[in-house]
Amino acid sequence: MEITSFSDIVGDEDVFWAQHFDRRPLHRRKAISNPDDFLSIQDLDEVLRHERLRSAQLLMVRDGEVYPPHAYTERIRLAEWEFDSYVDPEGVYRLFNAGASMVWAGIQNLHPKAHVLSRLLAQELNTRCDVMAFVTPGSWQGLGIHDDPSDTYVIQLSGIKRWRIWATPVSRNLGHYRLSSDMDEPQMDVSMEPGDILYVPYGTPHAMIAEEDTSLHITATAPPILLDASGD
Ligand SMILES: [Fe+2]
Repeated sequence: MEITSFSDIVGDEDVFWAQHFDRRPLHRRKAISNPDDFLSIQDLDEVLRHERLRSAQLLMVRDGEVYPPHAYTERIRLAEWEFDSYVDPEGVYRLFNAGASMVWAGIQNLHPKAHVLSRLLAQELNTRCDVMAFVTPGSWQGLGIHDDPSDTYVIQLSGIKRWRIWATPVSRNLGHYRLSSDMDEPQMDVSMEPGDILYVPYGTPHAMIAEEDTSLHITATAPPILLDASGD
């Protein structure tokens, strides 16, 4: 299925704006048919092998730590000059097989459908929109409770990932939840399946729980437009 309109993502737009936007999360089961057609692990493999990627475009992450670029990049030579930080596909697979996740930053610049999604959301929300793709191996340990500074639109493309989401605070206090261990029960506890869509307002505490299979999801992030009430 092609994503061609905002309603393909959020469903009924009137309901989304009135009940969910900036208020509470939205989970839509099987909202996208044939999610593999949008972006697959094979598509990313093709990009990895055919494009000359720099390390800023593909991060390798394990246990919350980002690997230094030299762990999976190589130097290339052009005439008498040498350039470093070029991604070496074999290095990526070596780290992935050892339990690291791939985080594709700015995938909208590398993949046409992600670019269409980015432009569609940017236009609808009147802000910039970055799209990231996450490929996590079956041994992934999850991500603890945290919040993010942008509204997040998630599309699960393959594998299953469990999300726990707490209530969106009335006044956001970004970063506060990283240290909190005495949270109430989450408001939402969902296993995201291929084709599922999730909207999480900025500043909403959430956690992702370990999964068994390799998972691919994309997140489109849109920073909130915050008006400065001070009048300055
Ligand atoms: Fe997050």
